[in-house]
Order: sequence, then structure tokens, then C-alpha cells
Amino acid sequence: MNRADDPKIIERISWLRRELNRHNHRYFVIDDPVISDAEYDRMMQELISIEAQWPELVSPDSPSVRVGSAPLDRFETLAHRYPMMSLDKGFSEADFFSFDERVRKGLGVENPVLYTTEPKIDGVAVELVYKGGRLTLASTRGDGDTGEMITENVRTISTVPLVLENPMDFSLPSLLEVRGEIFISKAGFKRLNDERMGQDLPLFANARNAAAGSLRQLDSRITAQRQLEIYVYGISEPAALEVDSHADALARLGQLGFRINPLVRCRITGEAVIAYIHEINGLRDRLPYEIDGIVAKVDRFFFQELLGATSRRPRWAIAIKFEATQEVTRVIDIQIQVGRTGALTPVAHLEPVSIAGVTVSRATLHNQDEIRKKDVRVGDRVFVRRAGDVIPEIVKVITEDRNGSERPFDMPRNCPVCGSEAVRLEDEAVTRCVSIACPAQVKANIRHFASKSAFDIDGLGEKIINQLVDRQRISSCADIFTLTVDDLKDLDRMGEKSAQNLVQAIAASRRISLARFLYALGIRHVGEYAAGVLSEEFESIDDIMAADTERLEKIDGIGPRAAASITDFMRQEQNLAIIRRLLSGGVEIYRETTENKELPLSGKTFVLTGTLDSMTRSAAKARIEAVGGKVAGSVSKKTDYVVAGDSPGSKLDQARALGIVILDEDQLDSLLSGTNSFLQTRQADLPDTYRAGRQEEV
Ligand code: IVH
Repeated sequence: MNRADDPKIIERISWLRRELNRHNHRYFVIDDPVISDAEYDRMMQELISIEAQWPELVSPDSPSVRVGSAPLDRFETLAHRYPMMSLDKGFSEADFFSFDERVRKGLGVENPVLYTTEPKIDGVAVELVYKGGRLTLASTRGDGDTGEMITENVRTISTVPLVLENPMDFSLPSLLEVRGEIFISKAGFKRLNDERMGQDLPLFANARNAAAGSLRQLDSRITAQRQLEIYVYGISEPAALEVDSHADALARLGQLGFRINPLVRCRITGEAVIAYIHEINGLRDRLPYEIDGIVAKVDRFFFQELLGATSRRPRWAIAIKFEATQEVTRVIDIQIQVGRTGALTPVAHLEPVSIAGVTVSRATLHNQDEIRKKDVRVGDRVFVRRAGDVIPEIVKVITEDRNGSERPFDMPRNCPVCGSEAVRLEDEAVTRCVSIACPAQVKANIRHFASKSAFDIDGLGEKIINQLVDRQRISSCADIFTLTVDDLKDLDRMGEKSAQNLVQAIAASRRISLARFLYALGIRHVGEYAAGVLSEEFESIDDIMAADTERLEKIDGIGPRAAASITDFMRQEQNLAIIRRLLSGGVEIYRETTENKELPLSGKTFVLTGTLDSMTRSAAKARIEAVGGKVAGSVSKKTDYVVAGDSPGSKLDQARALGIVILDEDQLDSLLSGTNSFLQTRQADLPDTYRAGRQEEV
């Protein structure tokens, strides 16, 4: 029988630990795994079982600690050797310029001072203490002087090195204190809140609270499940790493195995900092994690030392904050909106609140389940979030603020617009109005029909459509083509002249491509992409009307749901009647040929890097151009795709830093041959391309 001091076991255990640490770093920090997940799991299982058999061999920097360990009674406190300071804040270009002026005045220099800039991640500041290259302590910032010891929790975070890598054999201080921000990604936050909603647990108001709450668990096994991450941004004493600038310190930290934000920009002038602020603000919605600004730091340590600090804040750094994406307001009502497909969507009407420069007075509540799970009531104070073009959303109710007067909301049994029955099918989350004559549906349908990607009828907007339907001048999209100047000229905000213009615009829209025509019909699950696919597959609308589900399902790009929905649509007499009336009313459908068609990749710019296996660069270029794309030599914000072959160059890093979609050769091939819907899924794909970058940039 083996004993714990059996050299074979000790050798095996240290090999497993070394290998697991190495693969962990490759997978999580540099995003370049060399073994499969299954192999990793097998090694981890072996390690855990050896340690279970010989508890005396358990060690605090064994990778097995990533799964968490026995709960604590409370957190010990820990005094920081050097205080963890906070940052001066600014909100504008002007604030940065005056900071830059103070810096130059302080240093007595006229020349530009160089800054290293970083995104300011909205998470929790931590200090990691490494003794002899091993993580021995981790603590929160606390009041800046004393924090809480959260070592076991931090050890569970995959991107925190337990043992430092030191491939270049730098001389390392026996004590190294590294500082950084622990956070949870937007996706991780959403997943966590969804999970909690399902278990009726209180929700987190934002990603920062979720990260803080997860870090402050006495049971590190819970923390281990929370998908926390880290980016490190500094060290407690500049001298520790024998480098003389912040940029070099970050580069060195990267070599030691720490994860550094790939969006760090090194040694740039004040002017470039301004550009950086705009660039990062522009990327904000597409980043996989929450940021609340950028941080600019004077790069040279010598200058930092000269400038010094006030009691709490260094004079050599500033945070330029972005506008908050979340605010608190009150729900004044919940009303139902009826959409094109008859879906009844509850919408919260809010006390107007300005979020990131836009006044928000409504937020979607999606459906009945969502209201129930979030328990949103009329009168509640709520956190509302708005990001980019996304519809504002209620994140969480502040239940602590309730006084008992709040009213719960129930979905109505009848459509609030037409009074017909509203039903919820068993396998669906949405409740729908059963009447196809419902004016709300008719209006929404006509809006869709006239919209830019469909018939594109200039001047036929929501207000006009509402009046026309309410006054019963039209009751379906087929009626649009019968409208005369007389029908229009007495509507609100219309006159003879604008009525004539609208009639002309309607006439001009009559000639339409098959793809647009199909899209305009508003068949469920048939968006622009599917409509395009159908228009290539079929000669005419008659052929599509005659196709059965089986035939449709066989088409690449048409899923079973879309196929069923198309045949369903074409079976309904009233839909066929509308199509017939459109055609007899003068709508003329043409089929696109290669000459008159907008090519699938028109307007898209590609950059190639590395060697491609299956084609030469010039062949790749020719293929891209054949479908309308352009190939450029360098990566910029205007680049849509970067194609990475073998041994890609710095263009790949630039693409990562700018959040550009990266394709491998297979993906390029399927994009060019039109076998996938990459163009459609582009937004959704973005976060994945945003994994940890490599270190060359620093
Ligand atoms: S530097 C003396 N860099 O912002 C320098 N802080 O108010 C101290 N933060 O508590 C911090 N990203 O939690 C720095 N790249 C970054 C940061 C960052 C986020 C947080 C950190 C700190 C707070 C400063």
C-alpha cells in the first residue's frame, strides 16, 4: 500500500498540480488551450481523489482549491501594507485636460506627458499577496487601510494564478502585492439572476453587486460557481518588479500569468487619451463586462513619485467616468401593448428618468412569467437599465421601499384593444389576441409592411396609419394601394400637397423584389434573412405559396419553425386574399438577378492575417470581392471581419481589442458560400470574440 510520503505519489501530485495550473492559465488567461476539457477534468479528478486519500498532501495552492473549500465563520480583517487608494474623477474631455495641465505643472514640463490607459471595470477591487511566488492572501479594499480576507474565495477564480509563472526567470520579490478588479461578465450576471429568479431568491441590482455578493460568501464553494473573473491593474509598490513604468509593470504581470485587459493602451499622449475615452465609450455596449469609465495613469513611475498623492488619491491618475446605464425610478402603470403577431406585451410606464442622456419612460416586462418572477407591481421603485439601442428593462424591484400600496399586475383575459379572447398556448411564454382583425395587429402589420426593409413607403408612418385604421379607410395592407388624395388630405397634419406626395410614394413602392415582398407579409419567423433565402430558392410567389413544409425544411437557412409558419400562413384564406389583392392592385414582384441584386457582402470590409490552408490570399480576396466584400490591408474601426489563418500577426490582437468579429478559415468559407447566417448573428456573436487577449499589446 502507498504511503503519503511515497515519492511516486508526491511526484504524481506535483506533476498534476503543475500541469493543471499550466493548462488553467492557457485556457482562461491567454485563451489558447492545448488539451481538451475532458482531459483537464480527468486530471483534476485524479488530483482530487489523491488528495482525498492523503489529506496530509493537501496544499493551499493546489488547483483543486478552485472548487472551493469548507465554509468560514467570518472573514478576518487584514491591514494593507500600502493603502489602497481611490481615484480622482472627471466626466469630460475638459476634466481630463485640466488634469493633464495639473500633471505637467506639477512636473514642471512643457512637453506632453505619456499616459497608460485602461477601462475602468465596474467590479470589486482586490489585493493579491504572493509570497515566494505563491498566492498566500487575498483581501478586499475595505476602507483602503484594512480589508477583509477573502483568500479561499479568490483561489476559486480561474483567472487568478495560484502559483506565478516565471518562464523568463525574472528576479521576483519574495513578497509581491498585486491589485486588480474582480468582476462578473454581463452574461454571467444575467445567468446568475435568471437562476435566482427561478429559485425565488432576491436578485442582484447590477453586475458589481453580483460580484461583491459572490466574493463575500463564507462558503467558497458558492463563490466557485459564480464565474468571477479578474483583470489586474497594478502593484502596491512600484519598485517590486524592477521596471520603471506602469506599462512595463503590466507587461511583466502578464508574463507572470496575470490577466491584463487587452484594451490597455500604453504610453499615449493626452490627445490620444481623449480619443481613447471616445473609443472605449463606443465599445462599451459590446464589451462582455460592465465598465463605468476609463482610468488614465501617468506612465513613468519616476513621475508618479514626483507627483505623489493627497491623503486618499494619487495625483498621477484620473478616472474619466461614463454616464450610468442604470437608474432608479417608479412604475406608475403597467399597460398592455399588442404587437403584429397579436402578442400581448406588458409594458411598465415609468416616472421619466434620464439614463445615459436619454429620457426613459417605458420599459418592457416581456411577458407574464417575467412579471411574476421579478414580482413587479404598480407603484414599485425599480432599477431600470438602458444600454445602446436595447429596449430599457427593469432589472430588479427595490422591495425594501414598498409600503403596501403597490398593486400586482395580472395579464388580462381579453385583448385590451379589440376585446377578443387572449390565450396563452401551453408551450409559449406569450399571451396572444386570437382575432386577426384586431386593430392593434392590423396597425402593427401595416407599419411593418410600409417599413424601410419592406415596401419602404416614405411618409406612411405610425400616426398616419393609426388614423387610417381608426377611420376605417384601410383594414389591411392590401388597402394601401387603393388610397387616393381624397382619402388622405383631411387627416391630421396632412394637406393636399403631402397627400399627393404620399400617394406618389405608394405608387413608387409598387415594384418590389421577391425578398422584400415576402418579408413585408410579416410571416412569423421569416425575417429579412429567411426572406432572402426563399427568394433565391423559388422562382415566384406562386411557387412559395404552393410549397409544402417538407420542401421548405430542406432549404439551407430555413428552420422547421419557419417552414411550418410559412405553410401555415399560406393556408389561411384571408392571407391568400391579401396577396391576390396586392397583385391585382398593381404590386409587381421582380426576381433579383446578379446584376440588379445587392450582393450579400456589399459594404463589408475584411482584413486577412496569417496563412490560409485551402486557398491563397489572392484567391480569398477574389472570392470575397465576388460577393461584394472589400479586402483592406489594416485593421480599423471600419473593419467588419478579420480572417485569421495560421500564425496570425498583430492584426488579430487589434481585431480583438476593437471587438471585431474574427473568422477562421472554415467560417470564412461558410460565410462566402452563404451556408450560414453569420451576417444575421453578428451582434450576438460579438462577446465570444472578446475573450482574454494576449500580452503583445502591453
Ligand atoms: S487604479 C491608485 N485601475 O476604481 C490607483 N482602478 O476609484 C487605484 N478600478 O477601487 C486604482 N478599474 O476598484 C485602477 N484599471 C483600473 C481600474 C480601477 C477599476 C476601480 C478600483 C478602485 C476604483 C478607484
